[in-house]
Amino acid sequence: MTSVLINDLGNASMRGIDVGGFVTPDFMKPPEETKQIFEKVPEYKFKDGDLMLCTYPKTGTNWLYEILMMILKKSAEPVEGNKGDLMLEFQSAESVDKQPAPRIVNCHYPCRYLLLKDMKDKQIKTILCCRNPKDTAVSYYNHMKGIKSYEYDGKWSDWLPVYLQGKLEYGKYTDYLIGWEKEIQNGVGYPLHIMYYEDMKKNGSEEIEKLLKFLGVDLDNNLKNDILKQCGFDIMVKRDKVPPAFKEMFFKSDFSFLRKGQVGDWKNWFTVAQNEMFDDIWEKEMSGSSFSKFTYSMY
Ligand code: A3P
Repeated sequence: MTSVLINDLGNASMRGIDVGGFVTPDFMKPPEETKQIFEKVPEYKFKDGDLMLCTYPKTGTNWLYEILMMILKKSAEPVEGNKGDLMLEFQSAESVDKQPAPRIVNCHYPCRYLLLKDMKDKQIKTILCCRNPKDTAVSYYNHMKGIKSYEYDGKWSDWLPVYLQGKLEYGKYTDYLIGWEKEIQNGVGYPLHIMYYEDMKKNGSEEIEKLLKFLGVDLDNNLKNDILKQCGFDIMVKRDKVPPAFKEMFFKSDFSFLRKGQVGDWKNWFTVAQNEMFDDIWEKEMSGSSFSKFTYSMY
């Protein structure tokens, strides 16, 4: 286990923690602690009623966390705390255990590093949320530029190829999806609901209906609409839950987890050549996969 610096093509570096061939974020904890947390993830013991939220980074985790919390609390009031409180790669198991119900345990790790046995044993309702990879990449680049611990200030054109090679934390998005695809083909053995960021943007009401059905929760229409409204991008920006001291410690001045919240922002970033490179790689790595078709534009 070591703290590593990963160079982009322009030699600007990003900080991470190598926990044995897999890089996790540098959460500004001692690297040894990050490694211990990583190793304990598969042993995590859920509590009855927990949900598991699985996402590759930047695919709408905070958004869905907020929606799920409101659904479980049957209230559209602002949710206290945030997904970081129950994030398995960020908190120790003891700390996650202390969080009160309702609990949405979450993790960005590929499913080979997850806690699938206990998910099966306890029949944990699990939600996998995906987002089109081009907007995900743009969101991730801005994340790495905006969070202090990466100490990164490179250019998009130098970052993208390195990201696509899977050299950065959490590895390739294609590997993440293929891992899930195999898991699904093998029969997951626990209740799994798959969602897409773009569907939530396009038809939130229908997506919430599906979610409610999966969760076995009844909500009246007014509350359902209130939740959708309170979890709209602009209202979440205004609500801004990140405490100033946390921002000061972790974020550069212009960074927010709520950046643009759009489908298709990638078009403002990708050159034609970058888009072709991206499509070639995705076609090669994802051909035949049920996760190969994403929505890249709302119109
Ligand atoms: P952008 O950077 O494209 O704006 P995660 O929570 O997994 O880190 O994902 C972050 C992405 O989800 C960011 O994308 C963020 O703006 C977007 N997001 C967060 N809340 C949202 C909301 N209420 N509606 C739409 N997008 C949202």
